[in-house]
Amino acid sequence: MSDLFSPIQLGDTQLNNRIIMAPLTRSRASTGHMPNQLMATYYAQRATAGLIISEATMITQGNSAFVNEPGIYNQAQISAWKTVTDAVHAQEGKIYLQIWHGGRAAHSVLNDGQQPVAPSAIAIDDVIHTPQGKLPYEVPRALETSEISMVVYAFRQAAHNAMLAGFDGVEIHGANGYLIDQFLRSSSNTREDQYGGSVENRARLLLEVIDAVSDEIGSTKVGLRLSPLNSFNSMQDDDPLGLLTFVSKELDTRNLAYFHVMRADFYDKQHGDTLTTVRAHFHGNLIANMGYTESEATTAIQNNRVDAIAFGTDFISNPDLPQRFARDIALAPADPNTFYLGGEEGYIDYPAAS
Ligand SMILES: Cc1cc2nc3c(=O)[nH]c(=O)nc-3n(C[C@H](O)[C@H](O)[C@H](O)COP(=O)(O)O)c2cc1C
Repeated sequence: MSDLFSPIQLGDTQLNNRIIMAPLTRSRASTGHMPNQLMATYYAQRATAGLIISEATMITQGNSAFVNEPGIYNQAQISAWKTVTDAVHAQEGKIYLQIWHGGRAAHSVLNDGQQPVAPSAIAIDDVIHTPQGKLPYEVPRALETSEISMVVYAFRQAAHNAMLAGFDGVEIHGANGYLIDQFLRSSSNTREDQYGGSVENRARLLLEVIDAVSDEIGSTKVGLRLSPLNSFNSMQDDDPLGLLTFVSKELDTRNLAYFHVMRADFYDKQHGDTLTTVRAHFHGNLIANMGYTESEATTAIQNNRVDAIAFGTDFISNPDLPQRFARDIALAPADPNTFYLGGEEGYIDYPAAS
């Protein structure tokens, strides 16, 4: 019977265990959205994860939604990421790059005055943290139909760049109310062209991105993350499990490395059995995330409900999380005040257990 410590093959990548490090934006990149040595140290400290999924990384300039998040759209960034992937591989770790477009979660203050773009001109009902303090999210400009192929191309190019930078694969970020998710869900997509309306139309951008990225680097190096229930970033859907069913069936024909599902809603407003829905229609590797303890994760794998579990906050404060699970060592709590603070504090100074 498999458990968290059983090896697993995800597409082309063989993992030593099923304890995945979830993608975590930490806002430690340097000016120009440049990865750096500090990030290499941080990721190398966590290389005993079966797989590290990197923080959300910009596929193009002009869609920054956090201060100091990294990019993968120019040669300098590719070279800097190579330092990170080399450091992880030197520790025999595996690392995927999460490729991302912020859509309406970006802000002009973070993008030299450039207005954010989205499927429709509907703003997030919240505030964003910027160097000028908290500001309301802006009403985005709805993308022209003719512009959408450029978004798809940018994802393809980012995946190409990720391979040059030495990543084992890429995770397409379709979760948490960013551009792809904004197209998927009915509350943020009121388009009347072939990218809006029916579930098939709302999923069109996602599937075009998956197909372009798979064509570029091979589907067995591609994962997808979705959060069908998460209401973070003002997201909602009329029929989340219907949407998930459609996408799961489509993914089932595409031989991806994995499907990574955030099972619930950060704010507990939207409910449904996402994992059963995915398992019914998708027969590839399923990674689940959100609120798992070691014991619940072990049971979920033993019962074959999922194939692997991603841990987020636990990996922030426990760089040696797999060893702590293996040796029953208590977990250190993470300090939310340093999640996006910048610098070494709360980033590379959480010690491994002795
Ligand atoms: C500080 C922080 C940054 C995050 N950044 C990302 C991100 O870049 N991409 C993403 O898909 N999810 C991101 N998430 C969500 C996590 O990947 C994960 O889904 C969440 O922490 C729930 O998992 P957990 O209960 O194991 O912590 C972030 C969460 C936190 C706390």
